[in-house]
Amino acid sequence: MLKSKTVLIGITGGIAAYKICELIRMFKRTGVNVKVICTPNALEFVTKLTLQNLSGNEVAVEQFDTGNFTPGHIALADEADVMVIAPCSANTLSKIANGYADNLLTSVACAFTKPVIIAPAMNTGMWENPTIKAHLAHLEKNYIICRPESGFLACGTEGNGRLCGLDTIFDAAKDVLTAPLKGKKIVITAGGTVENIDPVRYLTNRSSGKMGFALAIAARRRGAQVVFLDASKGSALDLQKAVNVELKTADCIIMAAAVADYRPKMVSSQKIKKNSEGKYLELTENPDILTEICLKKRPGQVIVGFCAESENLMENAQDKIKRKGCDFLVANDISREDIGFGADDNEVLIINRAGEIKRIEKAPKEIIAREILKEIWGGANGG
Ligand code: CTP
Repeated sequence: MLKSKTVLIGITGGIAAYKICELIRMFKRTGVNVKVICTPNALEFVTKLTLQNLSGNEVAVEQFDTGNFTPGHIALADEADVMVIAPCSANTLSKIANGYADNLLTSVACAFTKPVIIAPAMNTGMWENPTIKAHLAHLEKNYIICRPESGFLACGTEGNGRLCGLDTIFDAAKDVLTAPLKGKKIVITAGGTVENIDPVRYLTNRSSGKMGFALAIAARRRGAQVVFLDASKGSALDLQKAVNVELKTADCIIMAAAVADYRPKMVSSQKIKKNSEGKYLELTENPDILTEICLKKRPGQVIVGFCAESENLMENAQDKIKRKGCDFLVANDISREDIGFGADDNEVLIINRAGEIKRIEKAPKEIIAREILKEIWGGANGG
């Protein structure tokens, strides 16, 4: 399947450039055609001859190559199915974020209309620089980012900024090229619902929606049609309505939203005054959307629940999957500050109906998302 595909690898000037020799080999082993573009600085770290031998293709560096009638950046951008920029230096990252096209690599990246994977690698100070962070946040909207890892850096220090594992980059490219979820419609709910008390106040919870968002990106990257329902834009009843509409056509519903179990019995149309009777809030129970859709689901549909627990994770999760009737339940421990609500990392247990448990060790939410999709797809019991 990969044999007819072309990967365009862009290498910038950073010590991690040497690792890309192995990445090229990984792609070549699958039969993918590999093309390489280097910035002039990249060639300070790795030679053109090495890259040419490994990729089996000429390595492009010059922006104004007169040997060809088609402008280099257009030809390379047209030919490839995915572009991988690794390592991506702070300099190139900032240029791409701002639409610069001042060398062949940045010009191709700018002209590229298919998915671009960016794997930054740099010194910790650079990675934590607020300007670089702002550029990255901007890039995250349109590019697939393989974030760097913490560890020993070539500058002799320990810290964040080291190029992520080559497997992570390779898998991200493979997801784009094979699109394993093509033709599937996946509905993802995320964030905490908002239950109004009066025009000023409301009840909500600490869910950031990051896990659901990461799942939406991972599913889209794997070719799925994704419907993202942001629970923080409405109440549990609003979400219930939206989920029920989507249930009719969805292949999979992932309930990552933190749905309020209760809502105020009365919503005051006017702001409740301090000296009014508003001292006690009377609550009424919300519908359990997950349980409801599990009862209504069609054969073949896959329903995934989440559960956030602060104690007895395993026992509560095993009990919950039975009560709710979903195909899979993803459980995480919110008592830990390094994972869960608002954190960038997570560590989860995935439980299926048969009671089998898979632990996904602590990793960035993007990687957890990919593992969850891998686990639930193909594991559905169809019932
Ligand atoms: N859920 C739902 N509707 C609700 C409450 C929860 O659809 N009214 C879904 C959540 O989206 C999640 C799963 O149920 O996928 C588990 O949510 P959780 O809050 O852990 O479970 P609860 O049923 O609220 O159980 P408890 O509060 O007793 O732990």
